[in-house]
Amino acid sequence: MGNDTHGHDQAFPQPQINEPAPAIVDLKNIKEGDTIHGLVLMDNYAVVPFGNAGKTKIDGTVSTNGVTRKFVVWQGLAYDRLADMQAIGRVAEITASVKTYKDEFQLSITGVTFHHVNVDPSQFQRSVDVTAVREKLSEFLKENVPERTVKLFNDIMQSERLLGSFIKWPAAVKMHDAQIGGLMHHTLKMLRIMRTMIENDPRLEESSELLYLGILFHDAGKIKEIEKGVYTQYSFVTHRIIIVDMLARHKEEIIDVHGEAFYWHLLAIMVGHHGDFEDPCRTVWTKIVHLVDMADSQTTMFMDRKELDNVTVGADGISIWDNGKKLFY
Ligand SMILES: [Fe+2]
Ligand SMILES: [Fe+2]
Repeated sequence: MGNDTHGHDQAFPQPQINEPAPAIVDLKNIKEGDTIHGLVLMDNYAVVPFGNAGKTKIDGTVSTNGVTRKFVVWQGLAYDRLADMQAIGRVAEITASVKTYKDEFQLSITGVTFHHVNVDPSQFQRSVDVTAVREKLSEFLKENVPERTVKLFNDIMQSERLLGSFIKWPAAVKMHDAQIGGLMHHTLKMLRIMRTMIENDPRLEESSELLYLGILFHDAGKIKEIEKGVYTQYSFVTHRIIIVDMLARHKEEIIDVHGEAFYWHLLAIMVGHHGDFEDPCRTVWTKIVHLVDMADSQTTMFMDRKELDNVTVGADGISIWDNGKKLFY
């Protein structure tokens, strides 16, 4: 086997040890006309056609410290280095100019290299305090959820080898809680909202185990939907169906603890928790989990965008806009 000096080797040369790594690009504080240079995480991108002469360009997103920006690459050396798709999820050193396209910043990347292979991609992502959130979650479960239901959750997640990932997973690629530990954090926030609702209306008490377990599992299928911040090849089935597939493998265990009706109600929550955006809610318990999910995810998404100074209040003083799109009324 000879040493191939073309293809991947050329696109990803050996690290140049003597050259210090450039700074991480501050993607939050950019403005039109800036030229930027430094390290970013290549989130995702694709080769897409443009015009009608069979030409192609690359469209994608890069991020640093939880701030994500769109980019475009026109034909040239940078295009050639990215076109084999091997750079997704990697740290790259880029040179780019900042433009505005459809009311959003867009980086036009003219240079890209991959010299800094030793830079850890995780430092480009935001993260919750994973240890603290994990402790708060176990405390919550201990105080509010009967042991048999906590054990059922742990046993199923462990036998599916998902417990470790559940702790570190982002809740989303974009949107709400797109940070390390985001899935666990989103789950904990929903459990707390649910507890308040049960306290406010004690008639919910008799279904609390179903509601709590429904929340614990509702987004756990995302662990198999997203890998390294990118949707996997089977993500088209969605995390709602991935978790049904998983729970079906543990049907007997669930029925042993809670009975058959509970099992089907749990599946109904998994399938219907996105409400009218996907399969409609067909049980009252599904609707409640959906409302709690919306309350947390929309609030978090709104505050995240506000933090980035993306949102503005409309001329009517009521509507809230994010980069030209109406977010809330
Ligand atoms: Fe979901
Ligand atoms: Fe959710």
